[in-house]
Amino acid sequence: MDSLFIKGGVPLHGDVTVSGAKNAVLPIMAATLLTPELCIIRRVPQLSDVEFMGEILRSLGAEVRSEGDTLFIQAKAIRGIGDYELIRKMRGSICILGPLLARLKKAKVSLPGGCVIGSRPIDLHLKGLRELGAKIKIVNGYVSASTPRLLGADLFLGGRSGPTVLGTANIMMAATLAEGITTIESAACEPEVVDLANFLIAMGAGIVGAGSPTITVTGVKTLHGVDHEVIPDRIEAATFAIAAAATNGEITIHGARPDHMHAVLDKLREAGVKIERRGATLTVRRGRGLKPVDITTLPYSGFPTDVQAQMMVLMALSPGISIITERVFESRFMHVSEISRLGADIAIEGPSAIVKGGKPMSGAPVMASDLRASAALVIAGLVARGGTLVKRIYHLDRGYENLDVKLRNLGARIERVEE
Ligand code: EPZ
Repeated sequence: MDSLFIKGGVPLHGDVTVSGAKNAVLPIMAATLLTPELCIIRRVPQLSDVEFMGEILRSLGAEVRSEGDTLFIQAKAIRGIGDYELIRKMRGSICILGPLLARLKKAKVSLPGGCVIGSRPIDLHLKGLRELGAKIKIVNGYVSASTPRLLGADLFLGGRSGPTVLGTANIMMAATLAEGITTIESAACEPEVVDLANFLIAMGAGIVGAGSPTITVTGVKTLHGVDHEVIPDRIEAATFAIAAAATNGEITIHGARPDHMHAVLDKLREAGVKIERRGATLTVRRGRGLKPVDITTLPYSGFPTDVQAQMMVLMALSPGISIITERVFESRFMHVSEISRLGADIAIEGPSAIVKGGKPMSGAPVMASDLRASAALVIAGLVARGGTLVKRIYHLDRGYENLDVKLRNLGARIERVEE
């Protein structure tokens, strides 16, 4: 398992270009199952999760080929049973369920695993598919779904933690080939859901309201191929903005969508970070001094849970008390103990972390536990005095394209260590 060795204390300076959004490309890859025609997906980030999804689509019988950052996928003749081991290893694979059911009227996929940030249930996905007419059974760790036909329905998809992003994706995809009209209430509003909707509309689907809590899908008989460029990754862009402020450098971020980042940019400005926006370019630097801020993670357009860990590191550098409350997942504080090894003073009180910021950080060996926690530990290592070894960075490679290379190009002393 690879690690990253970082020698902290270098302010980051220079330019970085944002890659395509992981959380847009995964459901979009699943959507190619809805048509036998060729689909072209551009600006695809080179991530292990993307490779994994490609393997899953191949295991279903689809042809998947890549040229640089472009994917060519054609699901001419597919089967409805996904490879158990492949699918259970990546939670995002659950979004093949809706397209398979829509295309074949039957599907059998393994239950996705939970992970360190929470149990990751799929009850809302299954509720929505049942309301579209599917019969669902859970047997031997598989979800088996089948129906003679999918019928449009009015359904409510909100759960105890609000909307579900991949649940909305699954139901929206299934509804594109259902008979009649489907209304999804309490739909997720994330930009990645909108990008998926735009991909489906380009395939011939009848979708209105994506990006709002109410999405209406008018079923069609068939969908055709498409050529689509994926939106940039707002979480990666936020991660670089925080790294600029944390290291007291100045980074110009190209190819972003600042209009997808209002909550993050607003909180960074409140924390004293200077941000200049020119179209798709953001220039970020710390400004005179960091200030503590309180953050609560919420469904979009609230502060994204996927930026919570990275922001916690910035707050550990901001003199004063910051309260970070996690409202989307039930246990997304695994990074707290590891960040504390570097000198941060953080106490967990229920759904909140109380950060007493301004303590000096010093390097130490730390362990990554999940994708965004890994990014937070890298940022902390960039700031901490001395050397930091971030272990198990396979978590990082799932969601960040060449992060160590991009950071080295910004002046960071960071090396990948193969173990
Ligand atoms: C997506 O996960 C993202 N992953 C996550 O990003 C992101 O953190 C999350 O949305 C929230 O924004 C991908 O898009 C691949 P949810 P998803 O269903 O769709 C509960 C990253 O770091 N829930 O919106 O699986 C659930 O437990 C990853 O890139 C149910 O109760 O998340 C959670 O508390 C991490 N029942 C809340 O809803 C369900 O059936 C939001 O989960 C489904 C979800």
